Amino acid sequence: MVYLPREDSFLLEGAVRKYAHGAVLDMGTGSGIQAHAAMQNAASVTACDIDPEAVAAAKSSVPGATAFQSNLFSSVKGKFDTIVFNPPYLPDAEPRDIALDGGPTGGELLGRFLAQAKHYLTSGGQILFVQSSLTGIGKTKERLAGLGYRWEIVAERRIFFEELVVFRAWLQ
Ligand SMILES: C[S@@+](CC[C@H](N)C(=O)[O-])C[C@H]1O[C@@H](n2cnc3c(N)ncnc32)[C@H](O)[C@@H]1O
Repeated sequence: MVYLPREDSFLLEGAVRKYAHGAVLDMGTGSGIQAHAAMQNAASVTACDIDPEAVAAAKSSVPGATAFQSNLFSSVKGKFDTIVFNPPYLPDAEPRDIALDGGPTGGELLGRFLAQAKHYLTSGGQILFVQSSLTGIGKTKERLAGLGYRWEIVAERRIFFEELVVFRAWLQ
């Protein structure tokens, strides 16, 4: 089932409206909310998702974007000024849910994404992504530093027992 926008989506959407520019890639597009927000300032918007249902949803909700199926960057070509991702960030659980399961500790898919994204950023390009205290914001900072990214937190919100943050990351 396509992920319906929630607090994490809305927090990232605000940052996308503020910071996304140039050629934008929306990874894990789901309903297409981030691709739609990026249309405001982007030169072009590309949206992809591993779930074909999400690709169909993004195609109909963001007709100006190019949308296709991809497992992370497996089918992505070219480089982007802004890459956006609201990743699945919870530890794997049963029943499995591709929109929520981020790996055994919740951060493994994000780790693979950050390692691959380096090769798809233009010089001066940036990544905007959401993380949660449920996965470990400190661990995310370690991952970024280990991969050679610089970063800042550009939005945050506490909801019940969870803190959500939006990272903006770029290569040094
Ligand atoms: C938390 S939802 C976010 C959806 C939407 N971008 C938003 O902000 O509401 C995560 C999305 O990532 C997609 N996804 C999960 N694993 C993926 C992978 N390996 N490659 C591409 N997309 C993936 C899911 O299908 C889902 O649409």
